Amino acid sequence: MGGGGVMGLWTAVAVVIGAVVVVDGLVRWVHGWYREAALGGERRSQLPPGEMGWPVVGAMWSFLRAFKSGKPDSFIGSYIRRFGRSGVYRAFMFSSPTILVSIPEACKQVLMDDENFVTGWPKATVALIGPKSFVAMPYEDHRRLRKLTAAPINGFDALTTYLGFIDRTVTASLRSWSSHSNKIEFLTELRRMTFKIIVQIFLGGASDDTMRALERSYTDLNYGMRAMAINLPGFAYHRAIRARKKLVAVLQGVLDDRRAATTKGFTRSSTVDMMARLIEVEDENGRRLQDDEIIDILIMYLNAGHESSGHITMWATVFLQENPEIFAKAKAEQEAIMRSIQPTQQGLKLRDFRKMEYLSQVVDETLRFVNISFVSFREATKDVFVNGYLIPKGWKVQLWYRSVHMDPEVYSEPKKFNPSRWEGLTPRAGTFLPFGLGARLCPGNDLAKLEISVFLHHFLLGYKLTRANPNCRIRYLPHPRPVDNCLATITKVSDNY
Ligand code: HEM
Ligand SMILES: *[C@@H]1O[C@H](CO)[C@@H](O)[C@H](O)[C@H]1NC(C)=O
Repeated sequence: MGGGGVMGLWTAVAVVIGAVVVVDGLVRWVHGWYREAALGGERRSQLPPGEMGWPVVGAMWSFLRAFKSGKPDSFIGSYIRRFGRSGVYRAFMFSSPTILVSIPEACKQVLMDDENFVTGWPKATVALIGPKSFVAMPYEDHRRLRKLTAAPINGFDALTTYLGFIDRTVTASLRSWSSHSNKIEFLTELRRMTFKIIVQIFLGGASDDTMRALERSYTDLNYGMRAMAINLPGFAYHRAIRARKKLVAVLQGVLDDRRAATTKGFTRSSTVDMMARLIEVEDENGRRLQDDEIIDILIMYLNAGHESSGHITMWATVFLQENPEIFAKAKAEQEAIMRSIQPTQQGLKLRDFRKMEYLSQVVDETLRFVNISFVSFREATKDVFVNGYLIPKGWKVQLWYRSVHMDPEVYSEPKKFNPSRWEGLTPRAGTFLPFGLGARLCPGNDLAKLEISVFLHHFLLGYKLTRANPNCRIRYLPHPRPVDNCLATITKVSDNY
């Protein structure tokens, strides 16, 4: 081939690359114009920096690429790099024009403003959790049902009621895992354990078959939660949709049994569980909840009530085991508490947890460090200004809790696991958001902290975790977890407690 041919080839390559760049730029410009033109010139000029990207996918590729390649921070990082530290950006995600919010003050403003913002979860997520659950129901219904369902799981009396069951479930689980030297998937087992607890609280327990069916379906449901919403065989979202149908069927069965038992005049247990409350509640017009409403609320609660707690318990245990000094300090505190308990006392009491100051710091630091609820969704019902930028009516808002928790201006050395940073610290509003904030603050926050603390209490006093693959790769969606689900052995190391 002569020099001319090579030159020709390079020219062709240059022309093609040039054409791609031009077409790419043109497509982005047209998509941006299509999404934003209706705002009019003035409102458009008040939008935060950012771009709509390509039609359909928008920022989804770079979002999924960042999370799947093990560098989740590089997603918001790329906005900071390209558009500066405005903390508020515009993008196109989950099929909607979206404002990304990544700084504490702006997160707080959005979360506390019920007048101008409602929940705005992606359609695909709502389809999985349930259109009649909290993620999508109207404001007034949400207030009413939230009051009904949050009171029985929060506060001193409620937690006192559950403490015994949690304590027994935790000790039985630890005993069973340490009774053999086989490896267990520690995360999977912890999810099972937290699931057992939430099923007890909401359904008054369930048969082994029902438990297994529900557990399996919830795993599939969660794997599809942050995936691309492609409802075709072979895709995670498709499996998740099928899992939801199974959950509906199983819970409909439980509900039917319950209604049948009530008609016959006998109830399953002496305590009133959440299922009973949901069946009996009436609104101001005397209307009761339909089966599909009860089922969606249960699907939401049973999921929210075990997934995150299971993950946080696993990470807290791993961090304790990996940091001998932190372990020793936490263990010393638990030993002191054990010495202060009267020998006649049966099991732990709530007042014992009030004394677990350092353990509480370990749990808070884990909640911050694990980036568990990395994002939350809202939608603007009116034009609102945040940090000087316009959020147009109808646009979605993503609150990046993750960026807040990893902001070096809020937490010095944010990538260091350091429970002592919480000593004597009351975080500024909007800077610590593992449970959200405002009207949609997690109603299970105290229950979750209690469960996690009960587990760590027993673990610290008597057990050791040995991971099979301590440097296992982490997968970040839907929640950060080692890909081996923390394969490990649990060994009992002390008999004198
Ligand atoms: C470590 C464990 C947990 C974490 C990190 C967590 C985190 C969160 C967060 C961040 C939200 C707010 C989402 C938003 O801003 O829209 C939330 C909401 C919620 N959580 Fe939790 N949660 C945990 C445990 C629990 C437990 C144990 C329960 C059940 C008893 C629960 C039930 C719920 C429910 C029902 C909502 C929706 C509230 C509403 O929309 O009004 N969560 N959770
Ligand atoms: C949370 O994110 C930070 C920053 O990327 C990272 O250092 C930390 O390891 C993450 N935690 C988990 C459990 O993945």
